Amino acid sequence: MSKSFKTFLKHTAKDFHNQSVNPPVVRASTIIFKSMRDIRKTQAKAKKNPIGGHYDYGRQGTSTTYILQKILTKLEECHHVFTTPTGFGAVFLAIFSVTRPGDEIIVADPVYSPTRLLTEKFLKEFDIKTIFYNPSDLKTLEKNITKKTKLIFVENPGSNTFDFQDLGKILSIAKKNKILTAIDNTWGTPYFLKPIKLGFDMSIVSATKYYSGHSDVMGGSLAVNKKVFAKVYNAERITGLRLGPDDAYLITRGLRTLDVRLDRHRENANKVAAFLSRNKKFKLLYPFKKDSVNFRMWKKYYSGASGLMGLKIKSKNINSVRKFVNSLNLFGYGYSWGGFESLALHQEFRETGKRKYLNLAKDEHLVRLHIGLEDPNDLIADIKQALKHLK
Ligand SMILES: Cc1ncc(COP(=O)(O)O)c(C=O)c1O
Repeated sequence: MSKSFKTFLKHTAKDFHNQSVNPPVVRASTIIFKSMRDIRKTQAKAKKNPIGGHYDYGRQGTSTTYILQKILTKLEECHHVFTTPTGFGAVFLAIFSVTRPGDEIIVADPVYSPTRLLTEKFLKEFDIKTIFYNPSDLKTLEKNITKKTKLIFVENPGSNTFDFQDLGKILSIAKKNKILTAIDNTWGTPYFLKPIKLGFDMSIVSATKYYSGHSDVMGGSLAVNKKVFAKVYNAERITGLRLGPDDAYLITRGLRTLDVRLDRHRENANKVAAFLSRNKKFKLLYPFKKDSVNFRMWKKYYSGASGLMGLKIKSKNINSVRKFVNSLNLFGYGYSWGGFESLALHQEFRETGKRKYLNLAKDEHLVRLHIGLEDPNDLIADIKQALKHLK
């Protein structure tokens, strides 16, 4: 890789063969060979080097998915990156690869709610037990470790509450007890945090968010180290959880500007956070105030912050909270985030209420804001006018 991956992202994946600055989209179910001997040769190469881009059938990928995997592997600084049709597919693949009936897993309490459903409910049917730990009290992690514990699953920061955890401490607990580790790093992406370098065995990013950046494609990536590679490789082949070439192309295209967009998201989010942090009606859930534990934990591990933040609003008048959110003009209402545009969600308890350690009083409400690439002064003005409704 060139010295800076900002340069790498711009110059990678040129196609001198077809003479286009971007590689073609190679769509294939059947991959054609000149002879049976050639098929066998390719299969032998794939066996010898499973990450070398040798395929004999479209389900294993084409040159388009291979290029994306190569770029992401460099970005993550890891052994290999698997790409999946959705970010949640990558969450499933990570857990499914390393757990078996009778195992236990310990999961961060504020995980993305589908991850909670997968671990707590669905895996239970396969005799895999899930215990949740409190991200701000790692004793709840340590004391729940048993001989059956296979995996610690972290999401940083916590979904909706944006709790930043002591990742180094979690890793040292895992190491001491010989337990595998996975992290959902969608918020930071490897632009701001490189989990495999830090010591995690697996790292997930929903490519639907900042990688693609334009809210028009779904995908996921699962970065792994050498230790877990074979397990994930086998699981990937068995499940057929593979990203298609059109989506891979769009994600590769989005990656060209990942650094530019994330730098701007960070800049904009900081300006909006500075405005929001002065308001006494709520607590800003974003690594902004230097004297907070959250800020310290973020600063310890991350080189930057993305555009997703939360507000913990104290109000006895829930309708005024709804009115505040509904009065935003520049923020769209919708799921997902990481695209170019600003979004807002008033989180009802459907998403958060089942948590074991949720620290939310009856008169406290969570609002999630994704700060997009608009002019931050316009966003601030919009929030300012909407806040008039908050009582
Ligand atoms: C933190 C986090 N992880 C994983 C996912 C799942 O990604 P996808 O929607 O691409 O399946 C999401 C989606 O919102 C998310 O917010």
